[in-house]
Amino acid sequence: MPAQKKILNNIKDKPYFLKDNFVLYKNDCLKILEQLPENSIDMIFADPPYNLSNGGFTVHAGRQVSVNKGDWDKSKGFNGDYKFHYAWLEACRRVLKPGGTLWVSGTYHSIYQCGHAIQALGYHILNDIAWFKPNASPNLSCRFFTASHETLIWVRKEKTGKHKFNYGLMKNGAWPDDFIKKPNLQMRSVWAINPPKNGEKKFGKHPTQKPIDLLVRIILASTNENDIVLDPFAGSSTTGLACVLNNRKFIGVDTEKKYLDLSKKRFKDLERDLNNKLKI
Ligand SMILES: C[S@@+](CC[C@H](N)C(=O)[O-])C[C@H]1O[C@@H](n2cnc3c(N)ncnc32)[C@H](O)[C@@H]1O
Repeated sequence: MPAQKKILNNIKDKPYFLKDNFVLYKNDCLKILEQLPENSIDMIFADPPYNLSNGGFTVHAGRQVSVNKGDWDKSKGFNGDYKFHYAWLEACRRVLKPGGTLWVSGTYHSIYQCGHAIQALGYHILNDIAWFKPNASPNLSCRFFTASHETLIWVRKEKTGKHKFNYGLMKNGAWPDDFIKKPNLQMRSVWAINPPKNGEKKFGKHPTQKPIDLLVRIILASTNENDIVLDPFAGSSTTGLACVLNNRKFIGVDTEKKYLDLSKKRFKDLERDLNNKLKI
């Protein structure tokens, strides 16, 4: 039986959506993680709540807008937020294969708490990547610097062991949109990648949607074809689309129906595109 099917057989929840190697569950990720077998997942990409939807303001397209993204992003206070991050990171570590890796993305609102929990749980830190956003919105108050990056922490399950890193592809591959990456030189830990293009939002947008280019780079760097990738906070399933584009198997979880529906639309659109290309 194929590895992904074997894993899904352990999950009592009915998939919200399942097509080929792309599956979505609607539940709290802790409830799905506890049903997954130990040592079964090759790579996890997690983009957890930022805990910043607490009534502040930011700038979008030159206008002042609320930072509130939804109830799922409200802070539970310092201790409550830490408890949450510790719990999902602990559950992820159990299901990762030995040598499996996990990526966490976030801003200072969440990433340091995740980093603390990562170290407390015994993961091994491989890199912290600065994802630089060349066209970030300006700072409204003019009293501090313009926030223009997010941090991605990349870790291995165990302190020792061998993880996957497609070094040659990162060094010699074509990354034409990243002005920091010089041809045939090692890829650095600062990546210049623009926010999602308009075409990535044609079915509506998720408030913290990641660009497909970011997830494609992560998938190509740290997995091989047919690997099983889990995203416990799937949102609009950018991770899932990057998996479909690169022949990886995807398991996505989210609590919100509207984001799972958006994920389904994005998946079906990509599937149509790929099928049309095959016909040409
Ligand atoms: C930062 S967003 C992820 C965005 C995603 N990377 C994308 O490109 O669209 C976090 C997502 O986690 C979901 N979420 C929040 N708490 C959750 C939980 N306990 N279990 C599963 N999903 C959760 C939210 O609904 C939201 O869609």
